Amino acid sequence: MSEEMKQDPGFGSSLALLDALGIGPVWVRRELAVEEIAAEQVQHQAAPALEAAAPDPAITSATPPPVPVNVVAPVARSAPAASPASPQAPAMPRRAAPVEEEGGPPSWLDEMDFAAAMEPVLIPEGDEDEEVPAVDPVIARIKTMDFPQLQQQVAGCRRCGLCEGRKNTVFGVGDEKARWLFIGEGPGRNEDQQGEPFVGPAGKLLDNMLLAMGVKRGANAYIANIVKCRPTDDNGRDRPPSPQEVASCLPYLQRQIELIQPTVLVALGKTAALSLLGLDPATPVSRLRGSVHRYQDLPLVVTYHPAYLLRTLNDKSKAWADLCLALSTYQAQAN
Ligand code: URA
Repeated sequence: MSEEMKQDPGFGSSLALLDALGIGPVWVRRELAVEEIAAEQVQHQAAPALEAAAPDPAITSATPPPVPVNVVAPVARSAPAASPASPQAPAMPRRAAPVEEEGGPPSWLDEMDFAAAMEPVLIPEGDEDEEVPAVDPVIARIKTMDFPQLQQQVAGCRRCGLCEGRKNTVFGVGDEKARWLFIGEGPGRNEDQQGEPFVGPAGKLLDNMLLAMGVKRGANAYIANIVKCRPTDDNGRDRPPSPQEVASCLPYLQRQIELIQPTVLVALGKTAALSLLGLDPATPVSRLRGSVHRYQDLPLVVTYHPAYLLRTLNDKSKAWADLCLALSTYQAQAN
């Protein structure tokens, strides 16, 4: 660990948190015996293990980069209100976990008409020259719903074609008063079958990432997705949601965020980050990492999608740096 990291108060307190939880701040090498791991912990005092659920061939003992200190000012935790003007749902790229990093945007981004998906629906009213934005009555109602009403609405939702193929809607899981909100892309096969987000291999990795932060699924944490139904291609394989599917579903998540009022949002991957920030689809995740963004008045940190990390083990250290940024942001808000 570098001197710079040791000096960093945010990182120091994360280590204290990890120590207190007995997780051990080290990148655990799977082949090490417990005693060796303990010895390594004493020696290194580095980053915690973000163990992949899948077989992990790599030995990762990398020291994470210093925690950036680009932290937003504290935000008061206010009571949720019926939504004022939530931003128009921005357009979304399709599931892109394996290619969301370097090397430029994936090719499917070219197909997206990002601006068009953000356009309000215009209907003529009265004077034919005058165009008045239509108010979707369902969205207007969503903005006033409490959690049970919202969940019921999602369960019966037919706002896009994803409802045709779903087994279950995947509303979200966790503490409705959570201070941590983790947002993924959309349900996969396992999630569709169980009706709960992140229950497959990527979910196991996410649970370990949370554990490393001292956060547990269901306790002070809420996990949700950009879309509530599983997107599949013609061959029944998982695919990213289309911009229209995202636009149809995003009002539910927007209302969930208003109700939860989390202290920090963590966007898991490109789809979540771009959906929530309404950014140009060509924006690579690498450009979004390392600084604290804002979703409305709430701080938002971007990191890699766990499914991407399962395939790109070398980026786990970057993900840990992102989580340290999220932790220091959280601590700054709490103080
Ligand atoms: N990937 C996601 O983005 N969300 C899930 O719930 C599962 C996998």
